[in-house]
Amino acid sequence: MTAPRKLHIKSYGCQMNVYDAQRMVDTLAPEGFVETANADDADLVILNTCHIREKASEKVYSELGKLRVAKAEAAQAGRTMNVVVAGCVAQAEGNEIIRRAPVVDVVVGPQSYHNLPALLKQAKAGGRALDTEFPVEDKFSFLPPPKPAAIRARGISSFVTVQEGCDKFCTFCVVPYTRGSEVSRPVAKIIDDVQRLADNGVREITLIGQNVNGYHGDGPDGRPWALGTLLYRLAEIPGIARLRYSTSHPRDVEDTLIAAHRDLPALMPFVHLPVQSGSDRILAAMNRKHTTEDYRRVIDRFRDARQDIAFTSDFIVGFPGETEEDFAATLALVTQIGYAGAYSFKYSPRPGTPAADLQETVSQADMDERLVRLQNLIDSQQSAFNAATIGRTVDVLFERPARNPGQIVGRTAYLQPAHVMASDDIIGQVLPVTIESLERYSLLGSLARDSLASAPVANSPVPPVLQPVVSQSVSSHTVTGA
Ligand code: 5AD
Ligand code: SF4
Repeated sequence: MTAPRKLHIKSYGCQMNVYDAQRMVDTLAPEGFVETANADDADLVILNTCHIREKASEKVYSELGKLRVAKAEAAQAGRTMNVVVAGCVAQAEGNEIIRRAPVVDVVVGPQSYHNLPALLKQAKAGGRALDTEFPVEDKFSFLPPPKPAAIRARGISSFVTVQEGCDKFCTFCVVPYTRGSEVSRPVAKIIDDVQRLADNGVREITLIGQNVNGYHGDGPDGRPWALGTLLYRLAEIPGIARLRYSTSHPRDVEDTLIAAHRDLPALMPFVHLPVQSGSDRILAAMNRKHTTEDYRRVIDRFRDARQDIAFTSDFIVGFPGETEEDFAATLALVTQIGYAGAYSFKYSPRPGTPAADLQETVSQADMDERLVRLQNLIDSQQSAFNAATIGRTVDVLFERPARNPGQIVGRTAYLQPAHVMASDDIIGQVLPVTIESLERYSLLGSLARDSLASAPVANSPVPPVLQPVVSQSVSSHTVTGA
């Protein structure tokens, strides 16, 4: 038997990249690759890149500079190190990467990961390889499912891609170009994936897609199923305690999704629903296809169905043409909705998008100032949301031992990390926890009395007054899009 080859993957950007990285590991495992945390002694380094904002893209070239040194050192030591650029920068700038960065052996776009073994062979045969096609077939049909041991090693919470790409064409956004147009996976394949995960100890599934609620995969009845219908079906799978989905577009919120929130205790009352701006003028310039009033109505529909529901959002400040008045409308919308948390970004012109041709009107200094004002408002909402949890008993799904000995960490319905002193046999269970204090973004508490008998409980809803705010780490649960 030959020694295993070491594979290091560095993922940037959203959760779909984290999920794709796991698919690449699963694809390369039969080729004898095992993951290593260290790039320097790896035989294969994959940079899984993000193109959403300029800063995210720039990281690739600085990382490639470092890899040039590591690759040369490996060669001096008589080893070969191959370097792959994957992800959305690979898709958008494939030829340029080949031209600019001789250190790179393979460039592969998100739709072609199943071709990685062949591309590596091509590179080994002396060439450099580039694959940024958008094949018509479902790439998932070619990607091997994870092995039981890999599923167990990845923990009790898992992501499953149900939809990829976006047809919305917001004027600022690269996603329709890097991830292509919307494709939904068939229902049967998703059920298979979730069943396999559940059989191997996974208790929480987050369905992911760039426009996840645009899902319309072929159902077993021969008709397209909406996201809500899919969620009803997945909630029937034994072992699945929690379901989530990300990222949603306000225009595609169908009644079945609202009904699913009303009917399914497993569907967490926590929705990431980006709005981007609170100004109708700017929303139109962004081609968002909804007004602030449309957005408020969608929020009301969710809240009518489930009073304890909480929302997060994304915002862009300094879009071309944004006046102080437009920005004030964004602050007003945030105040009115009351978020559990949100991400806010300075506008970053992306090559090839319609907005990149617009004259930028907001100075960097004004953008910085608006960003701080918006983030302060969101932070205060988030702090109030978290503080409202103190003294309450909330359901926590326990995930893993915490850093402090004897502590186990899990998450509330709102993805707030919650720590208790307990033995690690509670991992994988949903148990009520009485929250005693808040340390930065983490809740500290103790197992509620009735859980000490260790009976797993259903996800009981949190009283409506509680508007908790998510932890910073929620970013790891969102997917670029919508
Ligand atoms: N500039 C700044 N922010 C952007 N986003 C997407 N494209 C851009 C851009 N060109 C933000 C949006 C989106 C999130 C994933 O990233 O808020 O919802
Ligand atoms: Fe699609 Fe979201 Fe990008 Fe708009 S911002 S184009 S909805 S991925």
